[in-house]
Amino acid sequence: MKITILYGTETGNAEMLAEDITASLSAEHEVECRNLSEMDPRAFDPARFYILVCSTYGEGELPASARPFAEAVAAARPDLSAIHFAIFGLGDSEYAETFNHGPKRLAELMAAHGARQVGERIAHDASGGDLAEDLALPWAEAVVAAARERLGEAA
Ligand SMILES: Cc1cc2nc3c(=O)[nH]c(=O)nc-3n(C[C@H](O)[C@H](O)[C@H](O)COP(=O)(O)O)c2cc1C
Repeated sequence: MKITILYGTETGNAEMLAEDITASLSAEHEVECRNLSEMDPRAFDPARFYILVCSTYGEGELPASARPFAEAVAAARPDLSAIHFAIFGLGDSEYAETFNHGPKRLAELMAAHGARQVGERIAHDASGGDLAEDLALPWAEAVVAAARERLGEAA
């Protein structure tokens, strides 16, 4: 399957995790990994599956590299109804009131423009006991399998 991993980051954790997911899926799939800041919202391809990896900054805000994308989506108002995506969030429960709100906002933005979410949004907690990659790699396998059914065998 053709997969694009898009990361939104402030200090690089989401980028590192996106690279780990890329490496893990690349044995079986055609995978590209890009910063959300470089993604033109009019360039989404229905034949690809999109895996978003995004952190949270400020008070539940999107991280710096995701903000230009969010602004571009708001301006372009693309029809994403043929687009399938999954999303993995990074955050820290020390910020109890706004825990993982960045990826939550990003998922809502995609859905508001019609995109279809595959699988559950995972909310990694930097103050919890799990390493992000330990959650993300099996999750990525599962969402890719689910996406393959939705996109069809051709994908
Ligand atoms: C200044 C600052 C603000 C943060 N705000 C939040 C927040 O509101 N909610 C949350 O869940 N995590 C918050 N975090 C935690 C980050 O999302 C977490 O450390 C993440 O791993 C950073 O990933 P990144 O390096 O890809 O940006 C914050 C971290 C910092 C340093």
